[in-house]
This record gives sequence, C-alpha cells and structure tokens, in this order.
Amino acid sequence: MSETSPAAPPPGPPLRLLQQIAAYRTSHCIRTAVELGIPALLQEAPQTAANLAERIGGKADLLARLLDHLVNEEVIGRDDTGRYLALPATRALVPGHPHSLVPWVRFELDPLHGRAWEQLGEQIKVGTPAFELAHGSPFFSWLGQDEAAQQRFDIQMRAIAMALIGIAVRHIQFAAGETIVDIGGGDGSLLAEMLSRNPGTTGVLFELPRATEALNPRFVELMQAGRAALKHGSFFEEIPSGGDTYVFSRILHDFDDAAAGRILGNASAATKRHERFVIVDIMVDPARAKPNETSQDLLMMVLMGGRERSAGEFSQLLAANGFATASVTPTASPFHILEFRHGPK
Ligand SMILES: C[S@@+](CC[C@H](N)C(=O)[O-])C[C@H]1O[C@@H](n2cnc3c(N)ncnc32)[C@H](O)[C@@H]1O
Repeated sequence: MSETSPAAPPPGPPLRLLQQIAAYRTSHCIRTAVELGIPALLQEAPQTAANLAERIGGKADLLARLLDHLVNEEVIGRDDTGRYLALPATRALVPGHPHSLVPWVRFELDPLHGRAWEQLGEQIKVGTPAFELAHGSPFFSWLGQDEAAQQRFDIQMRAIAMALIGIAVRHIQFAAGETIVDIGGGDGSLLAEMLSRNPGTTGVLFELPRATEALNPRFVELMQAGRAALKHGSFFEEIPSGGDTYVFSRILHDFDDAAAGRILGNASAATKRHERFVIVDIMVDPARAKPNETSQDLLMMVLMGGRERSAGEFSQLLAANGFATASVTPTASPFHILEFRHGPK
C-alpha cells in the first residue's frame, strides 16, 4: 500500500476578489438610498421598512432588501425590533450635514463617469482620456455645455474645498497688500477663505466662463467690498499678470505633464521673477503603495487624462518648466502645500 499525503483541499474562491468585483452593488445601493432620501428620514427617527416605504411612496419588501444590505455594510443600523436607524455613516449621507458626502456620491457615481470608465481599456490602448472617448468631448468642455453636470462638479469641489482645502490653505502665509490669483479657483470658495483669513489682501479668481455663474456668497461679498475680482479665461491661453501669489489648488493633477507644462509656461510668461506660486494638491506616496491614492490617480486619468503626483514628481515637472521648488509642507488634511518660484536663468 503506498502512502499518499492527504490531497490539499482545492483552493477556495479568493473572497477579497469576489468582494472587489461586486463592490459596485454597494455603491449603487448607497446612491439609491441617497436619491430616495432614506438617510435624512432615518436621521429623524428609527423606522420600519413599511414606514419608510410609505414616506417615499415605494414597496416595503423591495426597500427592506436594499436596507438589509446597507445594514450588513454598516452604512445604516437596525435595532432589535427590526427598525432601521441612523449610524454616523448614515448621517454623512444626509444633504446639508456639515461633512456631508452627498456631493461626493452624486459626483463619483454620476452615470456620465460610469460610461467613461467603460472606455478605460481603450484609453490604455490609444491614450485619449476615457471620458473623451465616451462622450466625444474633454471633461471640462463637456461641463461647459452641461449645466447640471457642471453644478454637480462645482458642488463637489466646494464641499472638499470647505471641508479639507480650507484647512490646508491656513498653512500659506500672506502679507497685507498681496494680490492672490487663484487659478481655476472654481466658485471662489477657497479664495474667499484665503482673503477672509488674511486682512489687507486682494484676490483675483481666474476661471472658465460658466453658463450659470454660481459663486460662493462669501466670495460675492468680497467682490462687493472691492477685495476680489473675477476674471474669465483659460489657463491654456493665458494667466493673468499682476499677482504676487498664484495658487494652483487641485489644478495640475487634472492634466498630464505636457498639458500641465503649457499652464506653467503661461504662468511663466505672465509673471516677472519675484512672484510666489503655490500648489495645493494630494502628493502621493512615491512607491504608489496606497490603494486609495492609486484609485484617485485612476479617476484623474479616466476623467481628464490627469495624474496624481508625488512631491518629487511635482518638483521634476516644475524643474522641466523653468521653476524651482522652495518648500513642501504636509497639512492636517490630505493635501500638501508646495511653494515654488522661478528657477535660476
Ligand atoms: C479640480 S477643480 C479645482 C477647483 C478649486 N481650485 C479647488 O481646489 O476647489 C479644477 C478647476 O479648474 C477649472 N478649469 C479647468 N480648465 C480650465 C481652464 N482651461 N482655464 C481655467 N480654469 C479651468 C475648472 O472649471 C475647475 O473649477
């Protein structure tokens, strides 16, 4: 009788992979719960599926199945009597909550983006951004024609600016009398924050024209007070001259090195040599070992052909365009502040 070792059990399915494949289901459940207004209803009081279904005008048995999945994913809670209730994650899905992720849900899970992701393989083959392959127009040109998508984008940008970048820009020192030029400054939220925190400064918001201008009310007040101005234009054509500090908050990561180089070239042409420039951006781990950062990098790639860079990669990009990095400062937010100046001639 020959001795055989017991056969190794057949390998099971790789569970993590199965979860990764199916992750979109949970994303859709979260988006649906937000669109149905479920988190706000649960914030009012714990409720049964029947109550909730009545409030939204839906079918209790179908709604309960969505809610049960969100309970298992710890997005909402359920008590011993079977009533669903709000957890901290649920409250973050209520519109208007101080750190609401609703703008993020609407932006990230926008069907326009879904169709762009379908073109990722083609992007890898031909190089054109997936969004442009899917929709026939670059991301920002598309927003220029689609008011609703522009609004979703601006609301999301404002939410991050208020929650996170506002913290980051506190690390930038401005002297009274300085003119701050915020390049691609969105609805003026960030510039309003910088001007309010730095008395005696004035600011210029440089942005693409919008079909409907929906500026941050604080920024509008600063314009009325004569401390801020809005200038429309494209940084691929020109950058306004006359500033002391030029802020690029979440701008360069929207573009590949060639396009970012064109923006930097225009910054160089518009300025003399004494100005200061500041990048506010995520600066990724140079080893690309953090999944949240590589995932964010792909979002930039798919939507705009952009990329997330490490501090070293930013410095190389700057050096290739005639600038020199002066300092890199981590902040209490995920964003770093990188100051740079004209390089030696
Ligand atoms: C990622 S958002 C950042 C907004 C803002 N700086 C912030 O950090 O909250 C990029 C901004 O660049 C603007 N933008 C894109 N292309 C532009 C161009 N060619 N010229 C001027 N602004 C542009 C967009 O409209 C958008 O507001």
